[in-house]
Amino acid sequence: MKNPPETMFETAFAEDTYKGLTNYPKYLLSKYIYDKKGDKLFQQIMDMPEYYLTSCELDILKINSEAIAKSFSSDSGFDLIELGAGDGKKTKIILKELVDKNFQFDYLPVDISQNVLEELESSLQKEIPEVNVKIQQGTYFKTLEKLSEYNTRKKVILVLGSNIGNLSHKEAVEFLANIAQAMSEDDMLFMGFDQKKNPQTILDAYNDPSGITEEFNKNLLVRINSELDGEFDTNSFFHWETYDPETGTAKSFLVSKKPQKVVIKRLGLEINFEAWESINTEISQKYDDSIVNWLADEAGLHVEKYFGDKENCYKNYIFRRK
Ligand SMILES: C[S@@+](CC[C@H](N)C(=O)[O-])C[C@H]1O[C@@H](n2cnc3c(N)ncnc32)[C@H](O)[C@@H]1O
Repeated sequence: MKNPPETMFETAFAEDTYKGLTNYPKYLLSKYIYDKKGDKLFQQIMDMPEYYLTSCELDILKINSEAIAKSFSSDSGFDLIELGAGDGKKTKIILKELVDKNFQFDYLPVDISQNVLEELESSLQKEIPEVNVKIQQGTYFKTLEKLSEYNTRKKVILVLGSNIGNLSHKEAVEFLANIAQAMSEDDMLFMGFDQKKNPQTILDAYNDPSGITEEFNKNLLVRINSELDGEFDTNSFFHWETYDPETGTAKSFLVSKKPQKVVIKRLGLEINFEAWESINTEISQKYDDSIVNWLADEAGLHVEKYFGDKENCYKNYIFRRK
């Protein structure tokens, strides 16, 4: 049953879950962590002291908001398209600056989670009502197919939170190349990349003692139970994090504490787990300038400039088409 007919699946979540759990080694895709509960858990992660990514990027955006807003601006206005916008916590710093400076723009946040987009829209109505916001539910790759339709004025593509780190280098090049293809000469890409640093700092960011990250990862099993009639006992798995300083890849796993069979009724699947067998649930790639330049070059982009925090733990790069 390795290649079942596509018609067997009701949703992309069902199909991807089937593929991941019948693969060896087993995996699940992190984009499915984000539903109402996953969104809330990610907001709690952003508030954790160990999750340095948020505070580093917030600092960069606050300190450089004027220069960043200026680099976005254009006499004829622009479209600000944010991929994987989440709750827009950090984006609001830039949106506020753009509004204060009277720049003309539409804000198009894209996210796989309809829930987080609705929250973002209503919080913007309260906090920065001047922003003309048009939420777009969908995956990055589906949205990128439509991106070149925005071609009547400048496009600024925004990706914060080191979202690109959830992709392998091969997928990241494909992602960047798709963006590059949709860009014209004046368009720009503004993207955050978490940097390589003390491996312990990275491990701690994905391994908090309060167990929020564990619950976040286990939300995949919770969603399989509720949406696909699965029978995972979430207590019989635990969260495990690794970081390889050579490749710069942090990986999250759920590890089975015992041999067990798990039925997923809507997929007609019974999955066997050996004791200590893992499911890879997320990768969080870390970068340095040479890797970012290499990815850009492969994708047909070049780095124009970057903004870093004072220790260069995190950097936001401006890319243009080559
Ligand atoms: C790590 S969070 C970061 C959110 C925000 N950019 C920030 O920095 O706070 C990733 C966000 O991207 C969304 N996301 C993840 N994978 C996605 C995909 N393949 N397509 C669209 N959205 C995705 C998630 O729903 C989530 O809101």
